Formats: sequence, C-alpha cells, structure tokens
Amino acid sequence: MIGILLGTRPEIIKMSPVIRECEQRGLDYFILHTGQHYSYEMDRLFFEELELPDPDYNLDVGSGTHAGQTAKIMTGVEEILAKESPEIVLVQGDTNTVMAGALAASKLHMRVGHIEAGLRSFNRQMPEEINRVVTDHISDYLFAPTESARENLLAEGIDDTKICVTGNTVVDAVYQNLDIAKKKANILKDLDLEPRKYFLVTAHRQENVDNRARLKEILKGLEGVQKEFSLPVVFPVHPRTEKRIKEMGFGVDGLNLTKPFGFLEFLQLESQAKLVLTDSGGVQEETCVLGVPCATMRYDTERPETLDVGSNILVGADAKKILEGVRSATAWKRAWRNPYGDGIAGKMIVMVCAAARSQ
Ligand code: UD1
Ligand code: UDP
Repeated sequence: MIGILLGTRPEIIKMSPVIRECEQRGLDYFILHTGQHYSYEMDRLFFEELELPDPDYNLDVGSGTHAGQTAKIMTGVEEILAKESPEIVLVQGDTNTVMAGALAASKLHMRVGHIEAGLRSFNRQMPEEINRVVTDHISDYLFAPTESARENLLAEGIDDTKICVTGNTVVDAVYQNLDIAKKKANILKDLDLEPRKYFLVTAHRQENVDNRARLKEILKGLEGVQKEFSLPVVFPVHPRTEKRIKEMGFGVDGLNLTKPFGFLEFLQLESQAKLVLTDSGGVQEETCVLGVPCATMRYDTERPETLDVGSNILVGADAKKILEGVRSATAWKRAWRNPYGDGIAGKMIVMVCAAARSQ
C-alpha cells in the first residue's frame, strides 16, 4: 500500500499525475489530506477539475503558526499511518504538510519518498527551505526533478543510491491538462482579454506579503507595469495576500484583482499571457514549460534551471527592478528548452514505489 500525503494547492496539482498513475495501475493506495488548505478555491476545486478521487482522510488542521500547524499535522498523520501501515509514504514539495508528514512517517520507520527533492534557494529565511532540507534528509527515496537538484543532494552527503532523477510532475500536470483547459475553460473571453495582451500575477510568499515595505513595492511595481504598457494586469489573489492587503490598508490602483482560479483557467491564462509576474515556485516552472516569460519577484530561486535556460528573471520586491525586468523579459524570444522533463515523472515515481513495496 502507498500512502499519498498532500495538503495545499500546489501539492494537489503536482501529486495529481501520481494519483492518476496509481489509479491506472490499479494499485492499493490512499490519499491523506492534512487540510492545510481548505478554502474551496484552494482545495476542493482542484479535486473536481482534475477529477481526482476524494481523499480517504482529511485532518482539517487549518491555518496556524508554523509550530502549531506542524504539530497538528504530525499528530494526525501518525494516527492514520499507524492504522494503515503503508509500505511507502509519498510527499511532494516543501510545505509544512510535507515536512510534518515525512517526520511522522519516518519515526514510524516507514519509507518516505520525497517528490521534488533537492531544490535549494540557500535562503533559510524561507520556511520552505527548512522544510526541504529536513524532508530530504529523512527520506529514503529522493525523486529529484533535475540533475542540479541531484547535485544539491550529493553536496549535502545524501547517498546517490537514494536519488532518482525523474523530471518534475508539474510537466505531466501541464501536458495532461492543457488541451482539456483549452476545450473547457473560456477564461480569456470571460475576462475580456486578448492573447499576449495582458499580464498575469501571483504573489503569496510569506517573506513578501507579510512584509509591509515589500508588499507595497510589489503593488507599486505592478501598477507601474500596468501604466507603462496600458494592458490589463490580472492578479488572482492568494488568501494570505488578500488578508495582508486588507490588514495593511493598501489601495490597489489599476490592477484586475480576482479570486484564485482553478487550474484549467489558470493554465489558459498562463499559456497566453504576455508575461507572468510571480513569487510562486510552481508558476516559475509552468511558465518555463509553456514558453512564457516570467519575472520572479524574489531575490533568489530554488529553480535556477529557469534562469539558465532564459525563461525567468529575478526582479526582487523592488518597484523599479520589477518594471525594468518586465521591459527586458517581454522582448525575449520564446525559444528556450524545457529543463523539467518529458511529462513522465509520475509514471517513473509510481514504478519505483511499486517495485519498492515488494522489497
Ligand atoms: C503554503 C506553504 C507555501 C506554499 C503555499 C501554496 C508552508 C510553510 N507554506 O503557504 O510553501 O507555497 O502554501 O499556496 O507550508 N488561507 C485561507 N484559506 C486556505 C489556506 C490559507 O484563507 O485554504 C489563509 C489563512 O489566513 C492562512 C494564510 O492563508 O493563515 C496562510 O496559509 P498557510 O497554509 O499557512 O500558508 P500559505 O501562505 O498558504
Ligand atoms: N494556480 C492556480 N490558480 C491560481 C494561481 C495558481 O491553479 O489562481 C496554480 C498554478 O498553476 C501552480 C500552483 O497553483 O500549479 C502554484 O501554487 P502556489 O503558487 O500557491 O504555490 P507554490 O508553487 O509557490 O508552492
């Protein structure tokens, strides 16, 4: 039996190819949702759109401090894992769900597989960096998306035999859903947008949106982009960011703020945008796969492949740099190669897990 742990929007999306593969192969598995994300448009919407089976368990841990949330997840995961006794437990990414789930499983002496292992921003101010490092060091199977992620793991002394370079399941998710998105979603028409004549934005990193000065600069930079290009700036607002904009009392001028979109709508918006501004991890990868320029509103990235192939530029949380970055990136030729694999990561991961069960 395989235990699949997830808890947030990006985990549902990037775990979906693994879940589909388990279904197709008729494997014995269960889905344990921690409930770290719980609002309809951050959670349920993705199960519906991606036609995923309902989670077998939902811990409903909700929001909280890092320690509070981590503790609740560990306690809940421990109880379910002890009951189900899976031979392998899979986690994906770098959230509190991932670290807490991996810790609980490894202390029950269960084998842990970390999908998207080996990413490093080398910035310990990010909660995600701590989650990545801890999870990688207690995992038995490290599914690294790229060779450079593998190198990061080797540099930290992790045994090469534990590492398998698979590509990133985000490519599988994009390939599996782009055509469906084109057929099903009509979001450009709904929002009165024309292809390549709008910008798309996401922002939710704790170090950006919980910091008054940074959030102010980001909003100023986005307003600057809207004015300079006279094009719509579509900004589906993450709940953390919505809360902070309200708390800090910022007015937002000229930006098209919306609720978060489903994956099919968001994929369509991403694939046809002139450029995407973001601080998201998954969005840096997806734009790279889709051939759309990306300006990342951060000072570092654990996705250096996007910088290497030339799909992404770091513009920080600085209004002037954001505008300068957008000016240069909108002129790029969209001809880079996708460094994240062929869209078979999910198949490879499940193959390894199926073989591991019998060992
Ligand atoms: C979490 C992850 C981050 C990931 C992001 C994906 C950690 C440390 N952070 O950040 O790595 O990139 O998910 O989106 O694990 N909220 C809602 N509804 C929800 C979820 C959250 O209203 O469904 C609001 C709450 O006010 C909450 C805040 O958003 O306090 C932050 O949620 P939380 O899960 O703590 O962190 P994210 O910013 O979502
Ligand atoms: N996404 C979405 N709707 C939105 C914004 C993002 O479906 O309105 C998807 C996006 O396509 C990507 C994922 O959410 O697959 C990224 O999640 P997020 O930015 O929350 O987390 P991160 O990748 O930074 O961990």
